[in-house]
Amino acid sequence: MEAAVTIWHIPLSEEPTADDHALLDAVERRRAERFLREDDRRRYVRAHAAMRRILAQEAACRPERLVFVAGEYGKPALADGSVRFNLSHSGDHAVLATSFEVEVGVDIEIRAIDTQRIARLVLAEGEMKAFAALPADVQEAVFLRAWTRKEAVLKAVGCGLTLDPRNVEVGLGSVPETPELAGQRWTLCDFALAPGFEPSPVRFIEPHHEAAFPANESRAFASQAEASIRPANSLVGCLATNKKIAPVGIRSGAIG
Ligand SMILES: CC(C)(COP(=O)(O)OP(=O)(O)OC[C@H]1O[C@@H](n2cnc3c(N)ncnc32)[C@H](O)[C@@H]1OP(=O)(O)O)[C@@H](O)C(=O)NCCC(=O)NCCS
Repeated sequence: MEAAVTIWHIPLSEEPTADDHALLDAVERRRAERFLREDDRRRYVRAHAAMRRILAQEAACRPERLVFVAGEYGKPALADGSVRFNLSHSGDHAVLATSFEVEVGVDIEIRAIDTQRIARLVLAEGEMKAFAALPADVQEAVFLRAWTRKEAVLKAVGCGLTLDPRNVEVGLGSVPETPELAGQRWTLCDFALAPGFEPSPVRFIEPHHEAAFPANESRAFASQAEASIRPANSLVGCLATNKKIAPVGIRSGAIG
């Protein structure tokens, strides 16, 4: 079986349907009720209903039957461990990374807020020096890329921001570092979704399986990778895995 990770884009702008609500368990319903803002409740219900449909499709079971457990710092996992996954949301978008073989962490951001202040809080000393030396007009894009890399690896490990992000060096350049954390080396893959992009899974796969994908899919991914340095009009993200994989393309297909 091929070792692969799929990233699913989940648009969150639509109102949840009765079917969406019916899929959630008691814990998810309680969390949905606690949101103060209606927008946040809508996004949460849409994201969790879509996540259940995708995971059920992958695990070949019914979405309402999925049982979740949480790690020490809250990382959700399936109780039966059949599919590994990680969810991230930003604005009206969510992405879900799924894999049968590798541990995954994913983070997306639409736009950086207060880049200069947050950079000082999360970049390592060397990263901060490199950041300060950049032309002002690229700083936000470069910071956003570094930030999604850090969050992705912290989410893959499962500790989230309980670990100081300054201790995880991911690099500011177009080729990310491979940080070592929790006794493992992590591979980082930047990706981006352009506006108007149809919901479809982005698939990452181990390098020796590249031949399995048509060449035009690789080109489509490359154009998305370029979008990752234009945060104003795209959604940028990073996937962290504990096994070396290479991005090879986009696969279209409806979610759920
Ligand atoms: C994980 C964390 C970095 C997410 O930050 P974020 O950028 O605001 O959110 P994202 O949208 O990228 O990710 C949120 C999703 O990550 C997942 N998640 C939650 N905790 C996680 C963890 N420790 N590790 C990995 N993924 C986690 C959940 O699926 C969550 O989605 P949900 O809220 O709809 O269930 C942040 O919540 C954190 O540091 N948590 C760990 C520490 C903590 O506060 N734990 C409390 C319980 S012990």
